[in-house]
Amino acid sequence: MENLLNLNGKTAIVTGASSGIGKGIAQYLAKAGANITLAARRLEKLQELAKEIESNGQKTLPIKVDVTQKEDIQKMVAETIKHFGKVDILVNNAGILEYKNFLEVDEKNWNDVLNVNLRGYLWAGQEAAKEMAKNKSGKIINIASIAGFAAFPQITVYNISKAGVIMLTKSMAAELGPVGINVNAIAPGLIETEMTQDILKDPKTAEGFLAKIPVGRTGKPEDIAGVAAFLASDLSNYVSGETIVVDGGWICHL
Ligand SMILES: NC(=O)c1ccc[n+]([C@@H]2O[C@H](COP(=O)([O-])OP(=O)(O)OC[C@H]3O[C@@H](n4cnc5c(N)ncnc54)[C@H](OP(=O)(O)O)[C@@H]3O)[C@@H](O)[C@H]2O)c1
Repeated sequence: MENLLNLNGKTAIVTGASSGIGKGIAQYLAKAGANITLAARRLEKLQELAKEIESNGQKTLPIKVDVTQKEDIQKMVAETIKHFGKVDILVNNAGILEYKNFLEVDEKNWNDVLNVNLRGYLWAGQEAAKEMAKNKSGKIINIASIAGFAAFPQITVYNISKAGVIMLTKSMAAELGPVGINVNAIAPGLIETEMTQDILKDPKTAEGFLAKIPVGRTGKPEDIAGVAAFLASDLSNYVSGETIVVDGGWICHL
């Protein structure tokens, strides 16, 4: 069978590529043949990953980007076009998690979380879609969370941001489909990354989570990266506006 996961000749932008899920997605898309713009604030981490990817034959553009800054996002897309000539795939993945009891949610918590997790996805989606529309082709993948479906305590603003990502995905899909762009989201469950390392450090808490996950383990960035590769490839050409839950079955009995 022809390799339909092949991304040879494609250019992808991955935000939050300096660690965790974003790093895993960048590695997988590169293995499938794509050249990658690696975006985040920690440039040294991006440069390390760039070296690894380039040693396997793909090209990279590591670039320091703060997704709360519109100018950084515009530069990220403009530099990608300058370097690779086009953008075929955007993965909106950069995200932060802040703990606050509902009664303590303040303006800073609200702005900090929504500016990265939701507004950053909107700006990057707009900038990339303008370029993709010129070629009447593109794939945008937004990283949501099961927290966009179920309300986890002490992370109200995060929950709201991820529910927003799910609706942003549908809104983008509705308007961008006619210009050849598919937009989908992935809603991960509990994945082992910097974001969750403190939760998973405590054996009692980790055990409590594990008891709720039918497949009996926490997820790894590769578990999300495989689905991202599918959504970036021709295998998913008739999928748009969808949010795929990748959580080992946890949400079935939340
Ligand atoms: N881990 C989980 O269990 C889980 C579950 C559901 C959803 N998610 C989502 O998955 C995504 C990736 O998270 P992760 O688990 O891989 O956590 P992570 O390892 O902490 O990665 C977060 C990434 O976002 C980047 N980032 C944060 N603020 C940024 C900003 N202002 N501008 C640019 N980049 C920024 C970070 O890079 P720099 O610090 O270098 O900027 C880092 O690369 C997030 O959207 C998260 O909400 C994670």
